[in-house]
Amino acid sequence: MIVCVCRRVSDQTIARCARSGMAFDDIQLELGVATQCGKCESCARSVWDECRPGQSVAHLHRDHAPSPAREALAVA
Ligand code: FES
Repeated sequence: MIVCVCRRVSDQTIARCARSGMAFDDIQLELGVATQCGKCESCARSVWDECRPGQSVAHLHRDHAPSPAREALAVA
């Protein structure tokens, strides 16, 4: 999903940068996130905060379709 429309930066890109240890300011400098209209800043910061090292909960996309592994466990 595109988080920053002005700079075309996705949540996955922000998450990858956060996991690599980049500070939010560094992401702004490198990618330009939240440096134009600023409307994406709260969402971009949320993604960054959820994915930075030391956070217990990763930024995950959950779909409700059963995974093959889950189905295998249900059968066993
Ligand atoms: S949407 Fe990110 S700066 Fe405009």
